[in-house]
Amino acid sequence: MSGSSDQAPVQVVVWTAKEHATSLHAALKALGWHYPFAQSKVNKEGEVGFPCLQTEPFSKEELRALELKATDPFTFNLQSIEITGRSVNPHEQLKRTLEVWCAHNFTSNHRPTGLQLPTKWERLGDLVILSEEAFNSVQWNEVLNRVNEAEKTNLWQAIAQSLGGTKLARQAQILDNITRSPQVCLLHGDSAWVEFSDYGVQFGFDAEHVMFSSGNVTERHRIGSMDMSDEIIVDAYAGTGYYTLPMLVRSNAAHVHACELNPASITGLRWGANANGVEQKLTVHQGNNQDTLPSLKGLADRCHLGLLPSSEGVWAHALACLKPTGGMLHIHMNVEKERIEEWRADTIATLEMMAEEAGRSWNITSVHVEHVKSFSPGVIHVVLDVLCSVRVE
Ligand SMILES: C[S@@+](CC[C@H](N)C(=O)[O-])C[C@H]1O[C@@H](n2cnc3c(N)ncnc32)[C@H](O)[C@@H]1O
Repeated sequence: MSGSSDQAPVQVVVWTAKEHATSLHAALKALGWHYPFAQSKVNKEGEVGFPCLQTEPFSKEELRALELKATDPFTFNLQSIEITGRSVNPHEQLKRTLEVWCAHNFTSNHRPTGLQLPTKWERLGDLVILSEEAFNSVQWNEVLNRVNEAEKTNLWQAIAQSLGGTKLARQAQILDNITRSPQVCLLHGDSAWVEFSDYGVQFGFDAEHVMFSSGNVTERHRIGSMDMSDEIIVDAYAGTGYYTLPMLVRSNAAHVHACELNPASITGLRWGANANGVEQKLTVHQGNNQDTLPSLKGLADRCHLGLLPSSEGVWAHALACLKPTGGMLHIHMNVEKERIEEWRADTIATLEMMAEEAGRSWNITSVHVEHVKSFSPGVIHVVLDVLCSVRVE
C-alpha cells in the first residue's frame, strides 16, 4: 500500500448485510486492507460499511481474496462499493497529527512552521516505511533536536498510526550488493519483522535484512494468476517468496525448488510456506544458484528468473533445469525503452544457441513481454515469457 501527494483523497468502502459484518471486518483486517481511523458506517438498508486503505475499486482478484478470507460465506453488492471523500485521507490525518504534536511540544510563539510532511510511504503489514528524505531535512533535524527522546517516540508512533501501522521505518537506497539488501532504518517499533497478506497469500520477513520489491506487485499478481497445476517449478531467485508463494498458493504449482543465498530471506520464505500451509511443496536450495541449479537438471516445467538488472548469468542453467520436453522461462531484465524489441529478439537468439549447445532440439519462442514498471528514466523493468517446446522435424 502506498500514498503520494498526487493521489485523489478517496477511499473504498465495502458494504455488507449486518449479520456478515463481523466476518467482513475480520477478513479486511486479516488482509491488511481495513482503514483503522474511520468509523464503520450504516446505510438506510441497515448494511454495514467498512472504509478500506484502497483508493480504487477492488479488482476481481481482490474481491475473490476477500471472499476466501471470510470465516462465514457472505455476499456484498458490487454496486455498493463506493468512493468517499477527504475526511479519512491519510495526508490530512498526518497533518493533524503534526499539528497536535507541535501544539503539545512548543508554545505558540516557538511553534515551527512550514515543516515538510512525507508525501510517499509504503505499508508492509504493520510497518510503515517512509522514503529516505522524510523527517530528514535540516529544518526537521533542528526541531527533533529541541525535544526529548520520549517526545520523538510519541511523534513516530503517531505518524505510524496516522498511516495505518504501528511501526515506522525510513528507507535508504537498496544496497548494490548480491542480496540487494535494503537499508531500512527503524524509527519506531521493536523490530522490522512484517507479516501481511496479499491476494490471500501470507508473507513475512525482516524488512531490515531482505529485499522485497513492492513495486513489482502487478507482476506478482500476474504470475499468481497463471494456472500451474501439476507443474514443478524452479525459482532461481526466490527471496522471501515474492513469486514462489503465489505460485504455490494461487497458481496451484505441484512443487517449487527455491534457490536463495540470503539466510534472512530464507527465514521469511520458510515462514511464508508454513503460514500458507505449502511447506510440503517447497524445497529450499540455500546458496549461490550457480552451484545449486546444476543439481536441478531436467526436472522443471517452468523456471523463474527474477533478478535485476539481469539474470543472464544463469540462463544456461535455467534451460538445463527444464524437462527434456521443454517448458517456460520468465526472464526479468532492465532494458532501455527503445531497445525492448531488439533485446527480445537477441534473447531468443541467445537461448536458441544455448539450447543447441546443450543438445536440446527445441523451438524457442517469446510468448509475451510484460512491462512491469519504470526502473529509472528511460529504463523499463520487463519480463519476457519464453516457451521452449520440442521441435517437430
Ligand atoms: C531481486 S531479489 C528478488 C527477491 C524476490 N523476488 C522478493 O522480492 O522477495 C533477488 C533475490 O535473489 C537473491 N540472489 C541474488 N543472487 C543470487 C544467487 N547468485 N544465488 C541465489 N540467490 C541469489 C537475493 O538474495 C535476493 O533475495
